[in-house]
Amino acid sequence: MATTQTIPQTTTPFLASDHQDSKKHLLLATTGSVATIKLPQLLSALSKTFSPETLTIHLILSPSSKNFLSPADLCEIGANPLVSRLWSDADEWAFPSGVYTRECPVLHIELRKWADLLVVAPLSANTLSSVTVGRCDGLLLSVLRAWDWARAGIVVAPAMNTLMWTHPVTSGQVETLKAWGVEVLMPVSKVLACGDEGVGGMVGVEVVVETIGGRLRI
Ligand SMILES: Cc1cc2nc3c(=O)[nH]c(=O)nc-3n(C[C@H](O)[C@H](O)[C@H](O)COP(=O)(O)O)c2cc1C
Repeated sequence: MATTQTIPQTTTPFLASDHQDSKKHLLLATTGSVATIKLPQLLSALSKTFSPETLTIHLILSPSSKNFLSPADLCEIGANPLVSRLWSDADEWAFPSGVYTRECPVLHIELRKWADLLVVAPLSANTLSSVTVGRCDGLLLSVLRAWDWARAGIVVAPAMNTLMWTHPVTSGQVETLKAWGVEVLMPVSKVLACGDEGVGGMVGVEVVVETIGGRLRI
């Protein structure tokens, strides 16, 4: 993958306690919504707004979301000065000796300890459903399920087809997230990538950036 050329990858297990510094730590996740194509734009806007001295970003890409990022996108993402690590599901199981031993940190727990804020932008209908019923098959869902609600916040930006958004199951799931304390950046009405027009487009990148700045007080 192109990112391996631009983002240093290491087999050294990630321990949150080894990465304590004065910077704010943003865990930014993408899911299998077409709005993932805006990730390079979002990161570019973040790097124009915040300095690497104040903010560090770790990315989690769900397996589906990788389909929306070209090799050129991944190179651009890897070159972003704020981005220090990119995580995928396979990293959960990448133990130095090939098998889990008691000394091995658990990645989804370490990322939760490291992060000051988790932002899922875009949040797909599938991950919305999964998280609200407590599913945790995959790195992002495991982080969400293991979240320390008393210590750090979660912001999500749903993005999906209008009929997915207006499906009767959606409103209850959104209310569940809000009741847990999740900040939901409600989707906007627009002509969607599929050609349909209606509510379901991800909120603007500038809104996500402003929300991150406000939540992290930077
Ligand atoms: C081309 C394409 C575009 C898609 N766009 C969306 C979308 O905008 N929102 C959404 O919720 N699902 C969308 N999907 C469906 C998700 O990718 C699918 O439900 C996937 O399993 C989500 O996985 P994840 O939630 O684990 O990332 C799209 C699928 C395809 C093939």
